[in-house]
Amino acid sequence: MRISLGPESAEPVYRMALDAASPSHFDLYDPYDYCRGRALELVRKQIGDLPESVAECWFFLGDFARLINHCFPDRKLFLYDTFEGHDEGEAAQALRDGYYCDFTEEKLRDSVEQVYKNGSRQAFNLPEDASSSQVADCVVARMPFPEKCIPRVGLFPDTAALDGEEKFVFVSLDINFRESMRSGLELFYPRLHDVGVIFAHDYNSPYFFGVRKAVEETEENLGSFKKFPLPDSAGTLVIVK
Ligand SMILES: C[S@@+](CC[C@H](N)C(=O)[O-])C[C@H]1O[C@@H](n2cnc3c(N)ncnc32)[C@H](O)[C@@H]1O
Repeated sequence: MRISLGPESAEPVYRMALDAASPSHFDLYDPYDYCRGRALELVRKQIGDLPESVAECWFFLGDFARLINHCFPDRKLFLYDTFEGHDEGEAAQALRDGYYCDFTEEKLRDSVEQVYKNGSRQAFNLPEDASSSQVADCVVARMPFPEKCIPRVGLFPDTAALDGEEKFVFVSLDINFRESMRSGLELFYPRLHDVGVIFAHDYNSPYFFGVRKAVEETEENLGSFKKFPLPDSAGTLVIVK
């Protein structure tokens, strides 16, 4: 199903969502991705001109990160990824706990290797043994304002450390696993500006049950979040203060 785009401001975002590196991963003509993309634009308008930073925690080829960078061109954009796929221990535990779809360990390992490790190198015509930093450089080069990007390459939360009083007005947490998702929420929620917004991807996903569990567990520690679900393909949860 295709939908027509609404306000004129959606058009530039749509055009930049498609390019050779990632022609169909995030498609704003898909009604579900459109919902998340437009929600980001409207959040941007609502937040106004506060100077605080923005972040995406796990950014892969940077499809959604490009929209964030486009909407917040003058903010520091912190970007986290391994470019090697998931932490095997965490992924295996998530499967044992029933918190990650119905893959076997082997199938998960293979698909992570194929999609995230090899796939990210193939997308940029890099050799198989290209380093994660080389992949990160290529992804950052896709951004409309690469000079604002601060890539943190390596396993999250080992790469989580932030300087001093860094505060955030927008954070996208696209983290499939319970432990890492909890670390992401514990890192960013206390640093969220009063009018800031977190998108917690996959909260209402029928595949990644660890995300909902992580939100519940973090609320036990930090107190209840104000939250609102988006009807997008990822079952994104919007969290505000
Ligand atoms: C779900 S995708 C991110 C998609 C991205 N938000 C987008 O818009 O296309 C998964 C990414 O998570 C990364 N990843 C998985 N576990 C990680 C971890 N513990 N630390 C950092 N990155 C991780 C993988 O390397 C992969 O690139």
